[in-house]
Amino acid sequence: MHLAFDLIGELEAALASAATAAGLEPGSFAPGVRTSDPRHGDFQANGILGAAKRAGKPPRPLAEAVVAQIGAGVREAFDISVAGPGFINFTAKPAMLLEWLKAHRSAAELEAGASAAHRDETWVVDYSSPNAAKQMHVGHLRSAVIGEAVSRLLAFTGARVVRDNHIGDWGTQYGKLIWACKRHLDEAAVLRDPIAEFERLYKLGNTAAEGDPKVMEEARSELVKLQAGDPENTALWDRINTASLAAFQVIYDRLDIRFDETLGESFYNDKVSRVYTELAETGLSSQSEGAQVVFHPEHPRFKTQPMIVRKSDGAANYATTDLATILYRTEHFRASCILYVVDKRQGDHFEQLFLTAGKWFAKTGRTLPRLVHVDFGTVLGEDGKPLKTRTGDNIKLKDLLDEAAERAYLLVSEKSPDFPEAERRTIAEIVGTGSVQYADLSQNRASDYLFSWDKMISLDGNTAAYLLYALARIRSIFRRHGLECGDPAAEAGADVFQTPGEVALARKLVKFSDTLRLSTETLCPHFLCLYLYELAGEFSTFYNADKVIVDDPVVRARRLMLCARTLLILETGLRLLGLRTLERM
Ligand code: ARG
Repeated sequence: MHLAFDLIGELEAALASAATAAGLEPGSFAPGVRTSDPRHGDFQANGILGAAKRAGKPPRPLAEAVVAQIGAGVREAFDISVAGPGFINFTAKPAMLLEWLKAHRSAAELEAGASAAHRDETWVVDYSSPNAAKQMHVGHLRSAVIGEAVSRLLAFTGARVVRDNHIGDWGTQYGKLIWACKRHLDEAAVLRDPIAEFERLYKLGNTAAEGDPKVMEEARSELVKLQAGDPENTALWDRINTASLAAFQVIYDRLDIRFDETLGESFYNDKVSRVYTELAETGLSSQSEGAQVVFHPEHPRFKTQPMIVRKSDGAANYATTDLATILYRTEHFRASCILYVVDKRQGDHFEQLFLTAGKWFAKTGRTLPRLVHVDFGTVLGEDGKPLKTRTGDNIKLKDLLDEAAERAYLLVSEKSPDFPEAERRTIAEIVGTGSVQYADLSQNRASDYLFSWDKMISLDGNTAAYLLYALARIRSIFRRHGLECGDPAAEAGADVFQTPGEVALARKLVKFSDTLRLSTETLCPHFLCLYLYELAGEFSTFYNADKVIVDDPVVRARRLMLCARTLLILETGLRLLGLRTLERM
């Protein structure tokens, strides 16, 4: 019995040929196989209902006719039944579960199986992308954490991923900032904490310009000088960006994020003229009050609110840069898909951008990559308002991660007071950062989420600490018995799973493949979080009911195999979410 990694794909292929054999028009039938409620089986196909309707036939007999045509391989692996109006239920046989687990004993084997999903595709993931001259604060957390998890998931499922940090390093804020730098820069403060000093100056310049039209005018001329390549302003701009990138890097290191590219807005400076020309030449843009704009007459809002691609003073803006960026990513990276992991409050910007890019590419005979705004909600404090410090300031990401490590240290010290201090500190950094990442990822990204230290840094519930602990505990089973995890010798002779705990755990393990499919199709990492949490739960149930190290070598072998695969999948899953794991906790 040979079974692919992707069980759902296998079942869908088998159903499609069975349907053809049963007389349905080839291609007219979408099998619609999904993981099902375990009480009904492991997988369920509901596609017969639609097919029957289209063919004008009663669904149940049709389902039975299709089932009768299913090939021997799948029949050997699953118990198959027709239920209700015409659902087809598949329940994995214990022998099949054993075969699947035998065939997937390492991360490389899992990845080899998973990588068929996005083979030959290039995905550019635009994430984190903070604005320079400001420290990262809690509002920057979600893009970084979700973008990293999505990138890892896509790479694991076979895509070539280009991780691109589209830093906001160009734009009107530099006029005010340079104005303030020239008058109020404190060199000693720059030495101590450059980014904090530039942030102070930015605020100062902003306030000054708002209160005084003369300052506003001066700031504007600093910007014009910068854009014209004035050496002094360019040097200052460079200094600000270098300091910003260094500060961002500290956070990226803590979150284990590595970009392939950091092509900020300034990179597109010399690439926007093509946008102006092509939009004008194709007749997509028009002039309105001195600006170059694109209207979308078919759109309820954008028929009156155009996309401004060139301001009346001739300067580019956020939208222009984003258009030039799409062209660059298409031509240079040959992107099949571009993801923008950005706050959902920028929804209008992206809707308008995608509409404009679609028409522009169509008019110029280019193939538009798939463009997706991977949006997310706001991080809220316990009062239901966007999370802030007590004094109403933004919480710096660095302070947030420090506090997480501090709180995790208390948790670890309580749980394992006998561990050496240095080790408890190392564990605390991993648990603390992991808890912040996981709390974010385990929520449906589209909704706002409530930030709660107590829920997040806890050994109970769907938390990082719970999973990291479950994983460390399995590692300790192997350590205690001097065994190596996944050692084929320890698993040799394993026979078919028998006890309810063994079977339930094995059934959960093989659904890892479907979880990857679901998380990458929807670009929603919370499906993977929920799966890992449920997997850890199944493991506990099994481990409490069935002794692993028993005398009977056959029983021991199959139980060790279950321990090893649970560990492997927990490890792989947490790594895909961007977390580091622990030997002990
Ligand atoms: N720098 C922007 C901000 O902080 C986010 C950029 C997102 N990426 C993009 N290509 N627009 O709001």
